[in-house]
Amino acid sequence: EIIKYLQKSKNEIIKTIQEETPKKYIFDYGGPNIGKSMHVGHLRPLNIGRALYNMYKISGNECISDIHLGDWGIPISQILTFCYENNHKIEDLIVEDLQNIYPEASKYSSENQEFKNKVNENLSKLNNGDKKLLSDWKIASELTIQNIKKILHELDHRFDLFYGESTVVGLIPEMVEDLKKNNFVRSDDGALVSNENTDPPILILKSDGTYLYMTTDLATVLDREKQFSPDGYFYIVDNRQSEHFKQLFSSIKYFQFSNSSFEHIGFGTINDTEGKPFKTRQGDVYPLESLREDIYKILNKKNSDTNAEILTNSVLVYSDLVFDRHSNYKFDINKFTNTEGKTAIYIQYTKVRIESVLRNINQDQYAENFDDEQLNTSEENLIMTILKFSEIFNRSKNLKEPHHLAEYLYELCQKFNSFYKDVKILDNKNMHIQNRRVNVLIITINILEIIFEVLGMK
Ligand code: ARG
Repeated sequence: EIIKYLQKSKNEIIKTIQEETPKKYIFDYGGPNIGKSMHVGHLRPLNIGRALYNMYKISGNECISDIHLGDWGIPISQILTFCYENNHKIEDLIVEDLQNIYPEASKYSSENQEFKNKVNENLSKLNNGDKKLLSDWKIASELTIQNIKKILHELDHRFDLFYGESTVVGLIPEMVEDLKKNNFVRSDDGALVSNENTDPPILILKSDGTYLYMTTDLATVLDREKQFSPDGYFYIVDNRQSEHFKQLFSSIKYFQFSNSSFEHIGFGTINDTEGKPFKTRQGDVYPLESLREDIYKILNKKNSDTNAEILTNSVLVYSDLVFDRHSNYKFDINKFTNTEGKTAIYIQYTKVRIESVLRNINQDQYAENFDDEQLNTSEENLIMTILKFSEIFNRSKNLKEPHHLAEYLYELCQKFNSFYKDVKILDNKNMHIQNRRVNVLIITINILEIIFEVLGMK
């Protein structure tokens, strides 16, 4: 059995993790908001979302990822209103302006009632399709989207759908009409409230008729049902939104929008080395771009530009995924870029080491013909770890916890390194043993490659 397993090709290993009855899933993750730059907090949904998407995909399911941009509602109206009030021409804005305007506009809105009223007025105009507001919204959102796409490209993230809250705004009037017709909602002081018996009651529309986060999320389900009718929905979003998703999921069932399964995959926050929220020295949110640059600077000292690029992305992926998603963790740039310890660099170096051994041999010569003669302890340990792969993969996938797979990747590298230190692979006179050890190397590299692909590392 074991010898047979060790001879499996990459595709045959993948077969061991495939499902008998594949399904269709939506992965909703990333979700940056217009007017704000992508910051360190976006690392987790991006990494966890992509890893889960890849796990489900490699096991044979049909997967659809959607970034679900926050591109509608109050923030947008705050930005536009602020520009109108201060005579900033929307068409002259650059991305940096937007990033400065948004915090100011939002602060101003909470301090100044008159401004706040104008924000609401503009929002309802926008909701009603006002031409000028719509075209200004388009300009402002395109600006942020370009910037978002640039960083996503650098981090090697791709989405099947680049939709947002705005995508479904056109579906809302009819959705609301149907909810009323079916007696699923009632009016409460002008606001629209679900008739479902919950505490607190679930708000569907504000009293001034503007849409809430809930409203667009409900309409998004209708849209996804119509376009894809998925078997399952995964929302990879910060733990702090768990109440929202509880309300969303129960409303979906109550309104009979979908029979599929819905799951919120939450995660904790990333803190600095002192355990405080990750901020720049000036106290602003830490842009993802800056974290990337800071890591790159360290790695570029010892590596070529291209390698430093790849390693930087690996650090951004691995350091994040190796932590249990349920808890908070401290992002320690120095520790995570070290060549020793549970780091992306240690893993990348191990992979390179195996590849360089394999480069010097003709792998086809070693396909068959080996047994368990003179099995040494570190070799046996490595083999035992290899045999655990599908079990760990499935645990990681079923619990939607990538850290099991990330931990396993480290274990596999450690076991390989002991093996490499303890045994002679190529200069063994006994061909049986040499065959076996080369096969062990090949399967190790195949499993490493599968995990790299799944976790999103190059
Ligand atoms: N834009 C949201 C935020 O920044 C995340 C979107 C999550 N997806 C969703 N369908 N609600 O909090």
